[in-house]
Formats: sequence, C-alpha cells, structure tokens
Amino acid sequence: MSFRKPRRDSDVALSNSNHKELLFKILVIGDYGVGKTAIVRRYTEGKFSSNYKITIGADFAIKTLDWDHHTKINLQLWDIAGNERHGYMTRVYYKYAVAAALVFDISRASTFQSVKKWLSDLREKITLPDGSNIPIVLLANKCDIQQVAIPNEQIVRFCKENEIGSWYVTSAKENMNIDEAMHYLVENVLRAKIQDEIRESIKLKDSPESQKKNICCSN
Ligand code: GTP
Ligand code: MG
Repeated sequence: MSFRKPRRDSDVALSNSNHKELLFKILVIGDYGVGKTAIVRRYTEGKFSSNYKITIGADFAIKTLDWDHHTKINLQLWDIAGNERHGYMTRVYYKYAVAAALVFDISRASTFQSVKKWLSDLREKITLPDGSNIPIVLLANKCDIQQVAIPNEQIVRFCKENEIGSWYVTSAKENMNIDEAMHYLVENVLRAKIQDEIRESIKLKDSPESQKKNICCSN
C-alpha cells in the first residue's frame, strides 16, 4: 500500500479556468467483517467475493467521477480495518478526510452497537477547518441476507440523535444503494466546500486590506 497525502481541504487542480479536478479522501469504517472492503471493491471495481480476507491496518482505492461538465472528482476511499478501533492509528488514518461511510452488518446487532464507538472516535479526532463535523452516511450492509437484527426505527432514531444526515440499506453482494450512498456523501462534501468558499470570500471582503482598497478606490 502506498500513501499519497491529500491536502486537508481537498486538492484542486485547475487545468483551465473552466475545468476543475478535486480530490476527496473518504473513510469507510465499522467493525470487522461488516463488509467495508466488499463495499469499496464493489464501488471501485464492480466486483464481489464471498471469501473473507481480513484487512490489516488500512487500504485505499480510487474512484474517479465525472461529476459535471466542468468537474472531475477523484475519491480516495480509505478502507480501515475493523480491529483498528482498538489501536492507536485511527488518528493518522482519519487525517485530511472530508467525509465518512460508517458501516454495520444489519444481521449482527453487535456491529450496530459499535457504530456509536466508531462515531465518537471519528468526531473526537476529526473536524472540518471551520470546526464543523464531516459529513457521514450510515450503511446497514448485507441486506440480502434477510436476517434483520436491527429494526429501521432504531436506525432512524440513532441517526437523529447523533446528527447523521442519511442512512442506506446496502448490499455489496447485490450492488444495492452503494452508488447512491457515495453520491450523497460527495454532494454533501461539495456543499460544505461551497459554504467554506463563501465564508472565505466574506472574510476577504471584510479584511483590513480590502477595506483599505475600497477607501483607495472610492477616492
Ligand atoms: P475487516 O477487514 O476485518 O474490517 O472486515 P470488512 O468490513 O472489510 O469485511 P469484508 O468486506 O471483508 O466482508 C466480510 C465478509 O462478509 C466477506 O465474506 C464478504 O464476502 C461478506 N460480505 C460483505 N458484504 C456483503 C453483503 O452485502 N452481503 C453478503 N451476503 N455478504 C457480504
Ligand atoms: Mg476489510
């Protein structure tokens, strides 16, 4: 695995004034065996395997989206091993991330109990530059198994109580709702980024330098 360090506020490469390319680091976290690697693989390669190969540490994959005529988005998906929650490395892995998919296995109640711990770990260690929380989506994976251990109402309540914007029932096996969930995250990252840019431009307008300029120009 090789590390390429993305900038905190996502890399912006302007090839010309009309075209921009962005890089977003997105975390995929949750207990062991919930299907994080399967989700990333399904999303980036369109494949699924029922063989379980535990992830050690973290891994990442890239997916490029032609978001609109002017914007290309490179998603760097960081697949963090489930047992890392007990380690010391999550702070390092979370660095510069702009969003997260929090995954549990809908057929295993213990993995839903762990979501709260993953969420606290995440919120304790990472915020956006303005201090706000990064966008999070909750994924109730393995819905194809049809053995539901967590009723929908409980998930809805959890999201409301913990300010999680949205949740999806997913299946990496059957390719259900994974594109939709990632799309939701990217939209929210872009929204946060636009708000950030607006705040920055307001700050610039209000800066003493620009006020000096205004005085100068009005004279
Ligand atoms: P760690 O790397 O240990 O943290 O686990 P993980 O969350 O990456 O789990 P992984 O993606 O390796 O999946 C664990 C097992 O669940 C594998 O055997 C997968 O094939 C299976 N699995 C993953 N997603 C699904 C799904 O949507 N449906 C079904 N039926 N099985 C799935
Ligand atoms: Mg894995």
